Amino acid sequence: MAAWMHPVALGAPRRGSCRPLGALGYNMNLPVVLLPNGSYKRVKRRPWPSIYDDVPRVQTRSTSKHRRGHQDLYYVSRPIQALISRRAIAHNIEIVRKTASRSRVWAVLKADAYGHGLVRTFGDGRLAFEHADGIAILETETAQTLRDLGWQKSILLLEGCFEPADLDAAARLGVTVTVHDNEQIAMFEAAQFVEPVAVYLKMNTGMNRLGFVPARFRGAHERLRAVAAVGPITMMTHFANADRPEGVVDQMALFERGAAGLEGEVSLANSAAVLAHPVTHRDWVRPGIMIYGASPFATRSAAEFGLRPAMRLESRLIATQMLQAGQSVGYGHRYAAEREMRIGVVACGYADGYPRVAPNGTPIAVDGVRTRVVGRVSMDMLTVDLTPVPQATVGSLVELWGDHVPVDEVAQAAGTVGYELLCAIAPRVPMITID
Ligand SMILES: Cc1ncc(COP(=O)(O)O)c(C=O)c1O
Repeated sequence: MAAWMHPVALGAPRRGSCRPLGALGYNMNLPVVLLPNGSYKRVKRRPWPSIYDDVPRVQTRSTSKHRRGHQDLYYVSRPIQALISRRAIAHNIEIVRKTASRSRVWAVLKADAYGHGLVRTFGDGRLAFEHADGIAILETETAQTLRDLGWQKSILLLEGCFEPADLDAAARLGVTVTVHDNEQIAMFEAAQFVEPVAVYLKMNTGMNRLGFVPARFRGAHERLRAVAAVGPITMMTHFANADRPEGVVDQMALFERGAAGLEGEVSLANSAAVLAHPVTHRDWVRPGIMIYGASPFATRSAAEFGLRPAMRLESRLIATQMLQAGQSVGYGHRYAAEREMRIGVVACGYADGYPRVAPNGTPIAVDGVRTRVVGRVSMDMLTVDLTPVPQATVGSLVELWGDHVPVDEVAQAAGTVGYELLCAIAPRVPMITID
């Protein structure tokens, strides 16, 4: 039998119904069981095995253990690399500060700082995040890392605790914890801390992922307020359409109604709301993508807001070819030359995180000149039209995204968003901080 199987497959004991919690769903079952009558019962052990019973949690004592795996297998002979600018992040945080000048700023560093590498971008904390008031993440291990690195300001767990042990760690680390459902309130009720833990109480105003619906919000607030282990309660919600014409009006109205009369600070805005909806700039804002210099909007560029890209993915030409009119290139012969043309072969493919679905015409820059991808992206290579850059030759510098080619343009061509491309850089790509 596999080391771990889905609990249902194991015939897990059903004591009432047991609801999974958190992003990893059924892998992280709480020792808090919801009984059919709506009350909660704590159980000594998880009612079924957790994947974490077999896999030890990441040790986070030493920062050296936080290096991305690929840094142990460092491929420098191949020319591709991702260059990370901490100055760009600092600059972008300044833009947040200017745009939402009345608010304090959570820099959202989840997903390994949106693929830029949390430890790498943090450095000693002074350069990139000096002007952030707090850092928002997902895991207590990451909170431990940040404390180890010397971050003394606020930390927010955006999805709260996945199990009671996380709450103990959060309390020890002085971390602010999101509470989005009754199981998490029950964790607080069962906890005994010396120092109360600050809470972000989340309202579901239409995203329908996490949070209490407006009608249940006040009850959750009152229940939390009665718990000695709970410190100040900030009210939060998350927008589904701040980047779109629908905007934030409906969700704002629901939020105001659900929070009416409740005291406490408020945090509403993600990047799109920071940039497009000043009404959402309350006590704290929570920008993510914009601090990495990409745009949350499909139709407005990051440059329009003065943002600078924090990542440049670059590589080099490893070959050039002449195509005669009608000749094709790459798998499936997806592109056929309209006339005689020179093409370049770039050391970058989908195994580096470049989207395989990028169509003919996806922007790319060679020797600083914008041109286009032609032919299908393969595992380790892609091909570009060298017509606008006739001097290009083997060794010429290619920018997949960065200053000349915004990641958002590549994403748009590939039918996705910059967020996904930045987070998807493959472990084999060396990532280097340049400032
Ligand atoms: C609760 C919450 N706040 C803020 C953010 C940051 O969003 P963005 O990267 O669009 O600014 C996220 C990201 O998904 C989030 O989940």
